[in-house]
Amino acid sequence: MKRRDFMKSSLLAASAAAAGKVGMVSGLLGHGMAHAAVPQAGVPNIALSNGMSIPQFGLGTWTLNENTIACVKAAIEAGYRLFDTAQAYGNEKQVWQGIKESGIARKEVFITSKIWTSSMRNPPQRDSIAKSIELLGGEYIDLFMIHWPVKERIRETWESMEEFVRKGLIKSIGFSNFNPHHIETLLQYAKIKPVVNQIEIHPYHTQEANVAATRNHGIAVESWSPLARGEVLHEGVLRDIGKKYNKSAAQVVLRWHIERGLIVIPRSKNPAHIAENIRIFDFELSKDDMAAISGLNRNTSSIGADPDNFSW
Ligand SMILES: NC(=O)c1ccc[n+]([C@@H]2O[C@H](COP(=O)([O-])OP(=O)(O)OC[C@H]3O[C@@H](n4cnc5c(N)ncnc54)[C@H](OP(=O)(O)O)[C@@H]3O)[C@@H](O)[C@H]2O)c1
Repeated sequence: MKRRDFMKSSLLAASAAAAGKVGMVSGLLGHGMAHAAVPQAGVPNIALSNGMSIPQFGLGTWTLNENTIACVKAAIEAGYRLFDTAQAYGNEKQVWQGIKESGIARKEVFITSKIWTSSMRNPPQRDSIAKSIELLGGEYIDLFMIHWPVKERIRETWESMEEFVRKGLIKSIGFSNFNPHHIETLLQYAKIKPVVNQIEIHPYHTQEANVAATRNHGIAVESWSPLARGEVLHEGVLRDIGKKYNKSAAQVVLRWHIERGLIVIPRSKNPAHIAENIRIFDFELSKDDMAAISGLNRNTSSIGADPDNFSW
């Protein structure tokens, strides 16, 4: 499928979902993907290459710390069903606690977590993975990812993650901060294929090439720091576009991710922002607006992150 056709099908699915119809988006530019549908507050699902699906919108939980439980509960109340945590965030237990306290059924939510670099460097990696599963309710994790590509440890970590999939304790596996060459190497030995690459994407770092290269392997792309940690929100162009649709700058940016077919996980500790951020499934940006937002690109990471050269 060409990018233009993909954008069109993404929009159609998103509008159908917003209209209360069954909505499903292929985030893969691929074929034969299973289509399931759970439109929560109009949130479409993205089909994954293993036949499963993931809500296209959710809550990021980095630095929520002692606010995690309250934020997860507020998000569930607002219609969020996807929650992104990581060993490094130190709040896997609190994410689970928030879900439990909300009273929602486990199968209604999609939990993602990630193995940290220190756990990768200290084998057996399976110990820290088992700990994540335990902290996140003890039953299963929907999607577990390698957080950063610690080059010399990727293979053994991946093979440990595959063991958990075989046991049914992890449903899908993927990675974060992988460049195309990391993906190509992993695909040479992976017995269980990756379904998601979570990378930094926002209007200052649009990452077209990495998104296209990842999708060429049938892997869906998820945007981290989708609001550039709030830094992009002062841009006048976003406010001007927002006025046309009666939306905030944050909603405009989040809608830009959705229309690119990306999975998006904004973080907020403010309940009003949490509720505002999910109200993006009742409008569509024009082609010109999409281009104007992409025009803010500077090809710069908000935290100076480089997957080929990092010190953590
Ligand atoms: N895989 C990785 O290596 C990696 C790296 C970084 C992040 N992540 C994931 O991506 C998630 C999101 O990224 P992020 O946490 O870096 O930041 P982000 O979502 O880009 O931005 C969060 C900032 O935006 C503000 N904000 C949110 N909604 C707003 C609204 N409606 N109006 C005004 N301000 C708003 C928040 O302030 P308030 O709290 O005041 O609303 C906060 O300061 C993380 O939480 C984490 O789950 C992954």
